[in-house]
Amino acid sequence: MGTISTEAWVLPAITRHANRKELVRERYTFPDITADEVLASPLYGCMEGNMLHALQRDPIDICRERHEDCVVLGNSGVVRIERIGSSVTEFSEGDTCILFGNGIWDEQGYPIKILAYDAPGTMGVLAKSMKLHQRQLIRIPRDTSFSLPQWAAFSLRYISAWANWRVAYECWQSQMREVPPEQTVVCAWGGGVSFAQLQLAKRFGCQTIMACSGPERLKLLQQKQIEAIDRSQFNENEFEAEFLNAITQKTAGKGVSIFIDNIGTPVHRITLKALARQGVVTTCGWKRGMRSHIFRAIECLNRHIHVHTHFARYEEGVEAVLFAEEHGWMPPAPDRIWTWDEIPKLFSEYANDRITSYFPLFSINA
Ligand SMILES: NC(=O)c1ccc[n+]([C@@H]2O[C@H](COP(=O)([O-])OP(=O)(O)OC[C@H]3O[C@@H](n4cnc5c(N)ncnc54)[C@H](OP(=O)(O)O)[C@@H]3O)[C@@H](O)[C@H]2O)c1
Repeated sequence: MGTISTEAWVLPAITRHANRKELVRERYTFPDITADEVLASPLYGCMEGNMLHALQRDPIDICRERHEDCVVLGNSGVVRIERIGSSVTEFSEGDTCILFGNGIWDEQGYPIKILAYDAPGTMGVLAKSMKLHQRQLIRIPRDTSFSLPQWAAFSLRYISAWANWRVAYECWQSQMREVPPEQTVVCAWGGGVSFAQLQLAKRFGCQTIMACSGPERLKLLQQKQIEAIDRSQFNENEFEAEFLNAITQKTAGKGVSIFIDNIGTPVHRITLKALARQGVVTTCGWKRGMRSHIFRAIECLNRHIHVHTHFARYEEGVEAVLFAEEHGWMPPAPDRIWTWDEIPKLFSEYANDRITSYFPLFSINA
């Protein structure tokens, strides 16, 4: 089998670049496509939390985990198919598709390892050319009403949100079937996945609240009719009491029905305190820390359900795309798209929380 060589921003193994925390631009060589794979040109990508986790080698060093000399990151994006393998039936040359990030999945289709992250031999969109298994692509609807950058932003965060919402809402309903959506309060800490999930909850008729910081995010939430709690206004020493007071006011003392917490350690205790009886805390992420401490007795007495999910099944990805096109469930149009040359700067700005957009987009071949 031949090989393909392309320009890429790669994460090198630590052994090559002593603990370097920057990507390196170099030629990247990968094996030609197999029967089930396609060769594609990445057009747009979206910066994701896992890309930064990979660069910071926290919680794992993916090069070491994969026993590879370097890894091409980037598991949210839009590609154009250039060539298909002999067993590929659902796609044709010229199709534009979003990436679907399952690298290795279990017998039910749920992800075990993630494309361009911990799944060995997989690559992401930070390359001018790439290959993907046909189950790592979902075709963008023909005549879509949305732009390719919006679909690139949709690719990972919206599908994660879709799959997490389904489990969380069904868990809430398992104990609270009589409560109609308009009396169901869904609250979240910041982030693109949370924003997507609250937009979805709103479409199902729920009351929605999101913590945020900064005037741009406040404005966006107002535009989307999501109630905002500006966490930057609170006194650091009184943060917990002030945040819980805001929740009490917004929920008429009842507390939150479903709390989306993808932040983790520093806020988890507040999340649990904000929950109503029979409330659901739901997560697919751990932006600020993986460990949490719970008082099991209190969680039992309050009948809280704790939901943990990781990305989605392929069928859920397809459903999410169809729902999105039909109902306009989409990320906002971007006000900036970072260029190929600006990729390292984008990583550093994202690491330092200096990007106001929930969906930092970059172009590759577009
Ligand atoms: N397993 C999966 O399927 C999956 C999929 C996608 C993402 N994830 C993970 O989920 C996590 C969240 O991802 P995301 O893309 O939604 O996040 P994101 O877009 O990177 O944004 C995180 C936001 O959280 C808020 N924040 C940061 N520190 C905070 C703190 N100490 N307290 C409260 N809020 C804080 C900030 O918003 P404000 O300043 O506006 O409050 C920040 O912009 C990441 O760890 C990501 O890797 C997992």
